Amino acid sequence: MGINSVDSDASGISREHDQVSNVLRPEALTAISLRCVACGTVYPGFEDAPRYRCDCGGVLDVETEFQLPTQQTATHDTNHAETDLTPLAGAAWRQLFDERATSAPIWALSTDTLLPDRSGVWRYRELILPVPASAIVTRPEGNTGLYPAGLENCDDGRIGHRQIGMFAGLERLFLKHEGENPTGSFKDRGMTVGVTMARLRGAKAVACASTGNTSASLASYAAQAGMQGIVFLPAGQIAGGKLAQSLAYGATTIQIEGDFDAAMHLVEQVCNELGVYLLNSLNPFRVEGQKSIGLELLQQLDWQAPDWLVLPAGNLGNTSAIGKAFRQAHQLGLIHHLPRIASIQAAGANPFYTSYKQKFAHYEPVHAHTVASAIKIGDPVSYARARKVIEESNGVVEQVTDEEILAAKAVIDRSGIGCEPASAAALAGAKKLVAQGVIRRDERVVAVLTGHFLKDSQTGIPQSITGQALKPTLEAVKKALKLQE
Ligand code: F0G
Repeated sequence: MGINSVDSDASGISREHDQVSNVLRPEALTAISLRCVACGTVYPGFEDAPRYRCDCGGVLDVETEFQLPTQQTATHDTNHAETDLTPLAGAAWRQLFDERATSAPIWALSTDTLLPDRSGVWRYRELILPVPASAIVTRPEGNTGLYPAGLENCDDGRIGHRQIGMFAGLERLFLKHEGENPTGSFKDRGMTVGVTMARLRGAKAVACASTGNTSASLASYAAQAGMQGIVFLPAGQIAGGKLAQSLAYGATTIQIEGDFDAAMHLVEQVCNELGVYLLNSLNPFRVEGQKSIGLELLQQLDWQAPDWLVLPAGNLGNTSAIGKAFRQAHQLGLIHHLPRIASIQAAGANPFYTSYKQKFAHYEPVHAHTVASAIKIGDPVSYARARKVIEESNGVVEQVTDEEILAAKAVIDRSGIGCEPASAAALAGAKKLVAQGVIRRDERVVAVLTGHFLKDSQTGIPQSITGQALKPTLEAVKKALKLQE
């Protein structure tokens, strides 16, 4: 018996879900279709049984026509000439998103919901998932910091951050800190959309396989929406902070013997067989939510696209999502040029890198090993989507060793910003690409820090204070600090 049918008669929660799905499903989603990345077959965006793959086995990509709200026309920006850094065509879109970003952070009294404009995902809802505000499950998420950290774009108040630019050899570097999301990683951006979709479907249970962050995010959003969260984790391979989140937020937490790739394989079977809604980035709607990382950073840069976007790469959902966001922003005239994307893999978990080196002629999964447990993935699900992104953005794929990752992490930590190990792969990769002359020292670069420092407080961090406990006297302190009498 499926988990859905177990609770089907039960509580007020399930009746409420049924109402939401019945009322909102048809009109909200008819404009959406799903196209197979491998063979091009097109399916409706909403079928009775959720579809995660094409019949050929390929992964799916959401397609839709973007519609500006009817009342929206550009009332400023129209004096700019095409020679400006932002093209004319996207003026109405830019104005819409800029107006929403400045709306006051208040709760709507009539509906008891925080206005979706306050979410760094739903602010861009026409480009993400066009559903009514009442359907949305949001914390809200996004609105994460973009830290200037280059040699030239760091003023004296950020002198400690400048060492990051010095380490990479970059004059104009920004760090987009996705660890500042509600559960401490970028996963919340895809999860708010995935769980909203689950709610529209009337799902009672949602599941994922995870290296830790997706599971923490799923657990939180499932709890909020009154659904059962089920997470499959590779036993003994999850950082403590992430495991604690899944358990504390109340997800059914299942450890499996084996690695992430085995857990991923299993959860797809479980979801298809037991009617649980799958919330890995195999689910194309998760990818739509993660596009907002790209949209938000463009907005923070006043719609002047950077030259490069550098990010850590594991299952390749984020590479796919951010690349897609840039492509769509370019098509809509929000930005003038496509940033180049640099995906950085750990050297022990590098199937995308190896394939890139062979001009994508071959693809071979690997048995993954790396200290950066979040990207310890040997058979990435979104390989085909991410390949398209690298090709169309004239991007690159690079690999970095565990030593390089930990050296970069130490610099980010010491600057006072901090991140989890996998995130530091972005800085390690940027440094390497600058040293190779692929990224020029004076190019504008955004590196994505994907997870919060506290997610993994074990790896690469001193675990105890050195030296003995002092007597609580001024004399003892002076001696310890080696201050002269
Ligand atoms: N950085 C962090 C902190 C991650 O948690 C992940 C993926 C990645 C980078 C890689 O992103 O998969 O989109 O290429 N974590 C997944 C998880 C797999 O289960 O939390 P990707």
